[in-house]
Amino acid sequence: MTTVKPTDAITLNYMKIRLNSLPPGQSIPFDLYVSIGGRPVHYLRAGDKLQAQKISNFEKKAPESFFILSTERNKYQSFVRDGLMSDKLDTKQKAMMLRESTMGLVEELFERPDIETALSDARQTIEDFVEFMDSDAAAMVNLIGLSSHDFYTYNHSLDVSIYSLGLGQAVGFKGAELRELGLGGLFHDIGKRHIPLDIICKNGPLTDDEWKQMQKHPQYGLVILNEHSSSENIKACAFEHHESMAGNGYPQKLAGSEIHAMARVVSVADTYDALTTKRSYNDPMKPTDAIELMAGKLASKYDPAVMKALMAIFQKLKAAA
Ligand SMILES: [Fe+2]
Ligand SMILES: [Fe+2]
Repeated sequence: MTTVKPTDAITLNYMKIRLNSLPPGQSIPFDLYVSIGGRPVHYLRAGDKLQAQKISNFEKKAPESFFILSTERNKYQSFVRDGLMSDKLDTKQKAMMLRESTMGLVEELFERPDIETALSDARQTIEDFVEFMDSDAAAMVNLIGLSSHDFYTYNHSLDVSIYSLGLGQAVGFKGAELRELGLGGLFHDIGKRHIPLDIICKNGPLTDDEWKQMQKHPQYGLVILNEHSSSENIKACAFEHHESMAGNGYPQKLAGSEIHAMARVVSVADTYDALTTKRSYNDPMKPTDAIELMAGKLASKYDPAVMKALMAIFQKLKAAA
């Protein structure tokens, strides 16, 4: 291993990647670095291969420690895209590669001061997801099957985006609109960039005051997306995903069809993911229980057509398991 120039700017010059986004046994076209004590250290050179055993060992021990040079970002992205087209990988491997390669991007959406690049890369990512769904009937079930069940905002955002694409397609969105819905799902909580981290990561229920602050994230999301000239559809997903069909949501207390059709999809995806995901202070619900709760006690909050789509997707998942 060669130690490169120590830098405290690892997050600026390097891009974090997940090893699970690299198919085992294939030579990689870029240099791979591992962070040791905050310094990037050369781990593999372009042309080297990573064996499956090493990938799974590192994923267990140090999943957040691998980087590539930011300047090699395009090489990494086309490597992933080639993998998705390859007939050497099965649907599950492709789903893993696509999901994991997106995590770095989602993290940038929330962590980096400049989100412009991440926002534009996100378009290509959603394009890749939709293409994958179109090319392979089992894609959605595999993508959902990999849902991480960890409530880091990044995992949650990606899961909500994937669920929104699946639900959206089932209720009739297609083409450019479906892509916008996928982006809306990905960015729905982007306003959390402006919420203090100790509130987002609090190990227990929020106080009234903290809750009030947290409830501002839809407005903050709208402000951020306005600054980056996003479409009205995407902005509606961020601003209206906590509205309720019954009119008792926030921030505007919209009801029924006053809520943007895409926000109604994101709302179902968001709640389902939140309920079935582990948070620090409570255990996740089983998918069956979450759907029962949403279709029963909470039914007045959600668009019935979207709920029907959720139940249909869940049936498919059960059949595939
Ligand atoms: Fe939210
Ligand atoms: Fe959310």
